[in-house]
Amino acid sequence: MSRLLRTGLNAGTAAPSVVGGEGVHFLLSDGRRVLDGSNTGGPLGHGHPRMAEALRKAASLPMVSEGWAWAGRDRAAEELFGIGLAGEDWAGAVRFCLSGSEANDIALSLCQALSGRRAIATRERAYHGLVGLSRDVTVQPHWHGGLAAPGATRVPPAGAPVHVLPPPEGAAWRADGAVVPPIAQRLHGAPGMLADSAAVILDYSQGGFYHDAAYQDAVAGMAREAGCLWIADEVVTGLGRAGRPFAFQGGASRPDIVTLGKGLGGGMQAVAAVVLSEEVVARMRGSSWQNYGTLRGHPMAMAAVSAYLTILREEALLERVAALEGLFRRRLVEMAGRHPSAFRVAGQGLHWTIELHGPDWREWRADVAEAPVASQVAARALELGAVIGTSGEQTSLFLAPPLVIGEVEAERLLAILDESLLVADRAHNGAQA
Ligand SMILES: Cc1ncc(COP(=O)(O)O)c(C=O)c1O
Repeated sequence: MSRLLRTGLNAGTAAPSVVGGEGVHFLLSDGRRVLDGSNTGGPLGHGHPRMAEALRKAASLPMVSEGWAWAGRDRAAEELFGIGLAGEDWAGAVRFCLSGSEANDIALSLCQALSGRRAIATRERAYHGLVGLSRDVTVQPHWHGGLAAPGATRVPPAGAPVHVLPPPEGAAWRADGAVVPPIAQRLHGAPGMLADSAAVILDYSQGGFYHDAAYQDAVAGMAREAGCLWIADEVVTGLGRAGRPFAFQGGASRPDIVTLGKGLGGGMQAVAAVVLSEEVVARMRGSSWQNYGTLRGHPMAMAAVSAYLTILREEALLERVAALEGLFRRRLVEMAGRHPSAFRVAGQGLHWTIELHGPDWREWRADVAEAPVASQVAARALELGAVIGTSGEQTSLFLAPPLVIGEVEAERLLAILDESLLVADRAHNGAQA
């Protein structure tokens, strides 16, 4: 038995064993070099020379806890505002922390303190993390933070009452061509849910639901009306992956709080952030924020944030992602039309979801022994030379390669997915027969 406890993320299949990485490739223990196709934490790929150099230099910095001042932390905050949040005049201040989960928990508990309300709201199929309140608003049924086993799943009780709004839609392609009802109809129950909520938290990728300007602006308006704060969870989409600095910039509304993580330090340091609007900062004036973490804002993490923001700007990563978005949309829609197993394609920038036909995701609890169809497709992709992720979901695959991927490698990744989907087609055709 291994001494190391593992996650159930790669539901049903053995995870690849990585021994190294270079550029957009992983090196595996079996000697193969495979494309890194679904890694939301690795915007720069592996061994980016400028990031590696920044970290080498940072390794000799002192250890300074969050309770002490560190000039590099102030510098990283200024750069986040100067580069990432340029032009966003509503944004007031930032606090750094360690993970997306922690950022969301801190943000949600702050909203509870400010409003005196306990309930929080999210949308269907959301994932916001597995710590504290972020776990409560993670409503994908298989990510409950407990123990999943055939017939004996143990789920920890939630800490806060959670309201679940309908999701935005906006698929690039759907097998059933379904027409989505108008926003007002879909969100007609939302004001009631927001009326007693401290915050509503919206992300822009999980479960295959991406940015939808009309949806965002409608929820933002209802939240304001209800005295409920709006948190934009940009842990996946912030600072690169969406092809613009933030996904929320696609709408007219602006959040009260933004959370960041994953790629914020180029994926090479555990670092996340909570950005507060000036209005929220003003509401906190006169109070000390009784929240602390020893390793938050660590000098090495701050060096990684500064290096990432510089690379983002100087290597024009946003422009690169925006240019590749069209290629992914075109190829995935065309591919889905040829594969009977495909149900839905949606995405933005360099994050794309391919949902397969199959049982309703609401029923999936990762509590069966068989590998789900998405994991079987991912296993085939690995044989063919690419790591493609499933988020541990039963019927959903996603592509999120490093933002530094070139067109030739992107085409190869898409071709591998295309061929791997034959596994799902066979399962689908068998089930139909
Ligand atoms: C939208 C979103 N928010 C928050 C998180 C949690 O981030 P972390 O895994 O860094 O705790 C994730 C992780 O996948 C995420 O996708």
